[in-house]
This record gives sequence, C-alpha cells and structure tokens, in this order.
Amino acid sequence: MSADRLLLRPVRVDDEAVVLAAQETMAAEGFVFALAFGEDATFADYVARLERLQRGEPPLGRFVASTFLLAEVDGEVVGRTSIRHELNDFLRHEGGHIGYGVLPPFRRRGYATEILRQSLERIRALGVDPVLVTCDDDNVGSATVIEAAGGVLEDVVENEAGTPTRRYWISRP
Ligand SMILES: CC(C)(COP(=O)(O)OP(=O)(O)OC[C@H]1O[C@@H](n2cnc3c(N)ncnc32)[C@H](O)[C@@H]1OP(=O)(O)O)[C@@H](O)C(=O)NCCC(=O)NCCS
Repeated sequence: MSADRLLLRPVRVDDEAVVLAAQETMAAEGFVFALAFGEDATFADYVARLERLQRGEPPLGRFVASTFLLAEVDGEVVGRTSIRHELNDFLRHEGGHIGYGVLPPFRRRGYATEILRQSLERIRALGVDPVLVTCDDDNVGSATVIEAAGGVLEDVVENEAGTPTRRYWISRP
C-alpha cells in the first residue's frame, strides 16, 4: 500500500513551486495549505520562519510553537500537517493540535489516515496527550479519519466563521 511509503518532512527552499501550487489549489476549497504564508519577503524567509516556529523562538505573533511538515510519497508532495505543540484559546476552541490536508489528486488512498497517525506519534513524543483534533461538522472524510484514529467527540461548537465544528480528543492507546 502506498500509504506505507508516506513520510513527513520539513519544507525546503526548493519546494516553493509545489507549495504555491498547493496553496492555490486548496484555497479554492477554503483550506489554507501553507500556514502563515505571505507574510515573508521570500520563500526562503518563509522556510526560516517555519524553522523558528518549530523551535518556539519569539516573536511567535499569533502562533504557538508548531511543526509544519509536508507529506511525501515516492518523492511527490501529497499533503501537509501542522502540529501545534500547545493550545491557545483559538486552538482549544476550534483549531486543535493537528491540522492536515491532502491534495485532491491523492485523496482516498489512506494518506490522511497515515498523516494523522504519524502526526500523533510526533506530538506524543513532545509529551502531549490527549490530543485535540477538529473538523467541520459536515466534513465526513475528516471525521472518519479522526474517528478511525480513536477520536472521541466532545462537542460541536461554532467556529469564528459561524461553521459548526466537531471537537475530538484522541488519547494514547
Ligand atoms: C479530509 C481529507 C483530509 C481526507 O483525506 P484522504 O487522504 O482522502 O483520507 P483517507 O484516504 O485517509 O480516508 C480514509 C477514509 O475516510 C473516509 N473518507 C475520506 N474522504 C471521504 C469523503 N470525501 N467522503 C466520504 N468519506 C471519506 C473513507 O471512509 C476513507 O476510506 P476509504 O477511501 O477506504 O473509503 C481530504 O479530503 C482533504 O484534505 N480535504 C480538504 C482539507 C480538509 O478537510 N482537511 C481536514 C481539516 S480538519
């Protein structure tokens, strides 16, 4: 199964074209692929800022320390994950600890399931347990992925945009 070959890795400067294309593709469905992108003069600056965010180096601005990783299968970028090392009020209410997305041509191959599995391993290694993961109430795909990872629904809240959002907790097995 190709999901067995999925690996998570940091963004590199030579990923600029693929990240920009992914950003555009997923913006069309209301999903921000490259988090915090657009605030830097160059892509190299963006990569450097992601590295500082991972180290939790100030100024963090509105962000918490977080790890942003691309998901790659056989050298091709298929998605991404954002692993937040802690929660702030926004993340506790609607953002959660882990946010992921899979590019349209690569869906229904088990990649989101594998991205979440590996993201959970990484966040647990940081000592976070249980882990909050959220999704829009009508996002059947993401809800299925979260439930398959052991997510227990706490509640459905209204997010900033007024969209009902499911909040799930996933505990270490
Ligand atoms: C939701 C999303 C992450 C799913 O990614 P994916 O790689 O296709 O998910 P998986 O292949 O791991 O899916 C596992 C199971 O979830 C269910 N599922 C996934 N997508 C689904 C969909 N669109 N409709 C119904 N069920 C779906 C299926 O049961 C699937 O297993 P199957 O393909 O064997 O039937 C992807 O569609 C996406 O990135 N969407 C836009 C961004 C987004 O919603 N991100 C999540 C924010 S919380």
